[in-house]
Amino acid sequence: MCGIVGYTGNRDATPILLSGLARLEYRGYDSSGIALIDKGQLMVRKRQGKVDELRSSLEKSGANGFIGLGHTRWATHGAPSELNAHPHVDNAGRIALIHNGIVENHYEIREFLLGQGYHFNTDTDTEVLAQLVGHYFHDHLAEALQKAVSLVEGAYSIAVVAPEDPSTIVATRDRAPLVIGVGQGEYFVASDVAAFIEYTNKVIHLDDREIAVLTPEGVQTFTPDQRLLHKKIQTIDWDLEKIEKGGFDHFMLKEIYEQPQALENAMLGRINSECDKINEIDGVLPYLKNASRVYITACGTSWHAALIGEYILEQIARVPVEVEYASEFRYRDPIIDKKTVVVAISQSGETADTLAAIRLAKERGATVVGIVNVVGSSIARASDQVIHINAGPEIGVASTKAFTSQVMVLALLARALGLHNRALDARQAGNLAQAIEAIPEMVRAVLATAGQIKEIARDFLYLGRGLNFPVALEGALKLKELSYIHAEGYPAAEMKHGPIALIDKDMPVVCIAPRDNTYDKILSNIQEVKSRGGQIIALTSEGDNEINRLADHIIHVPETVPALYPILAAIPLQLLAYHIAVAKGLDVDQPRNLAKCVTVE
Ligand code: M6R
Repeated sequence: MCGIVGYTGNRDATPILLSGLARLEYRGYDSSGIALIDKGQLMVRKRQGKVDELRSSLEKSGANGFIGLGHTRWATHGAPSELNAHPHVDNAGRIALIHNGIVENHYEIREFLLGQGYHFNTDTDTEVLAQLVGHYFHDHLAEALQKAVSLVEGAYSIAVVAPEDPSTIVATRDRAPLVIGVGQGEYFVASDVAAFIEYTNKVIHLDDREIAVLTPEGVQTFTPDQRLLHKKIQTIDWDLEKIEKGGFDHFMLKEIYEQPQALENAMLGRINSECDKINEIDGVLPYLKNASRVYITACGTSWHAALIGEYILEQIARVPVEVEYASEFRYRDPIIDKKTVVVAISQSGETADTLAAIRLAKERGATVVGIVNVVGSSIARASDQVIHINAGPEIGVASTKAFTSQVMVLALLARALGLHNRALDARQAGNLAQAIEAIPEMVRAVLATAGQIKEIARDFLYLGRGLNFPVALEGALKLKELSYIHAEGYPAAEMKHGPIALIDKDMPVVCIAPRDNTYDKILSNIQEVKSRGGQIIALTSEGDNEINRLADHIIHVPETVPALYPILAAIPLQLLAYHIAVAKGLDVDQPRNLAKCVTVE
C-alpha cells in the first residue's frame, strides 16, 4: 500500500510534504520519510511510526528545500523500521526514490545488481528499484526511470529526485495509483488528491507505464516509449473541508454521520431515469439485460455490499448473479464469455485484487461495470461503464458511508433493471422509489437514537438471515478491524450446526431481526442463544415488542422494504464497533496492521 507525495515549486517543501503525508496516512502508517534537495544537496530523514514522529524529528533538524518527496509506509518486504522506511537512496547517493507497490522480481534484479558491484542495506524491494534507477542514471533521470521500470514485474507507483537535476521530479505508475496536481508555478505528485487538495484541485491522471516529468515550469507526460503526450487537466470537486474532521473526534464518526447526505448524493438524478438520460445507471442496463452471466466481485466491506447486491438484483430484477471474492476470482478459472458482465465494487477504486479480477474479465472479453467512489481511480478507468456512488472522500480506514452508498446504488440499479426487463411494473417501481427516497431521513432517525452501546467482551457473534446475513458479516468485520475483538458473522440458522458450541454468558450475540419473512425463524434462533445464557443485542423494526422478552439490549430501526433494510441496520453496527474501540482507547481511524487502500495482491 503506502502513500507517496512529491512537490516542486517555490515554497518550502517540508510543510507541504508533511501535511500531504498526514492525509495519506490512511494508506499505511508504520514508518515515514522525506527527501529534500537544498542547494544541490540531498537530505533524507526517516522515522519508524506515524508521520508525527517524522514531523517532530524535522522540527528539531529544520530541514528545508523547494523540492522533495515524502512516503508513509505499510510494510510488505522488510519489517517496519527506520532503515526500511522510504525514501531509498542508491549506493552513489545520486538519487532518492519512493515507491508504492511490490516489485515481484526483486530477487532477480538484486542478483543482477550484486553482479554489477552494488550493495544493499535493506531487504526491501524498493531499495532494488533505487539501485536500478541509479545504475541507469547518466544524465537523464526520466530515461533512467523508464529503463529501470521496463525490467520490473509487479505493480508500482514511483517518484524520483536527483540533486544533479535539482528541481525535477520524475514519476511513473503501473497498476498503483498516482495523480499529478497542477498548481501555479508548483506541481505535486501523490497517491491521492487528498495529499495536495489544499493547494490545487487541478489534476492529471497518469495511465499505466506513462512517465511524468515535473518542474516548477510545468509538467510533461510521456508514453513508455518516450513520445510526448497531451493529457487533459481535470478539476476535482473535493475541497479541504470535505477531508477534514469538521468537529468530530474521528473521521470514522464524521463519515458515519455523513451517511444521510451521502445517500442523497448516491440517488441524485437516479430515481426517475426519464429525467436524466445520461444517468450512469441507464448506461449499464442493456449489458445486464443481455448478459449470459453476471458476476459481482469485490473485497472486504465492498464484498459484503456485493452479497447484498446479489439478493437485491435477483429479488427485484430477477437477474441471476454470482458473487466472488476478487482475490479468489482469477484463481478458479471462472467461466467468462463476451456476454458476461463483471460488476466490480470498490470504494477506493485502487484495490489490487479487484483490479486483477477486472483485468482477467477484460482479457476474456467480458464487459466490466465499476461501482466506485473515487473519480478517476484505476478501477473507474479500467471499467467499460462506471457508476459512481458519490459518497465523497472516505478517510477512516473502516468503510462506513461507502458501504451504505454502495448498497443504495445496487438498489437503484436493481430497480432500474427490473423496470428495463419488466420484472417490475410501474406501480412496484413507484413503491420502491418511495422507499428509496425515504431512506436518508430514516438514517437520520437511526443516528439520532442509536445510542452508545459499549458492550466489551472477548468474542462476539453476529447473526442475520437472508439479506441481513451480509450485514452480520459487515458488523463483525467492523468490530474486528476497529476493536481487535474476535467476531464472527453467521447465517442465523447455521449457528446450530456448530457455532452454538461457543455460546455462554460471556458471549454477546448481535441479532439482526427485522419484521420480515424471516422474523419468526430468527426469533427461534434467538431463543436458542438465550437458552444457553448468551447476551442478546437485537436490532429490530420500530414498534416490535415481541423480541423484548429475549433481548438484553434492543435497537429499533425504522421499517422499510427488505432490500433497503441493510442500509439502516449497518449504522448501529458501525456505531457499536466505533464506541467499543473508543472505550478501549484504540486508534479508530487507523487501526493496527490495516490500510485504507490495499494496493497489493
Ligand atoms: O476500496 P475497496 O472498497 O476496494 O476496499 C476493499 C477493502 O479493502 C475494504 O472494504 C476493507 O475491508 C475495509 N477496511 C473495511 O472497513
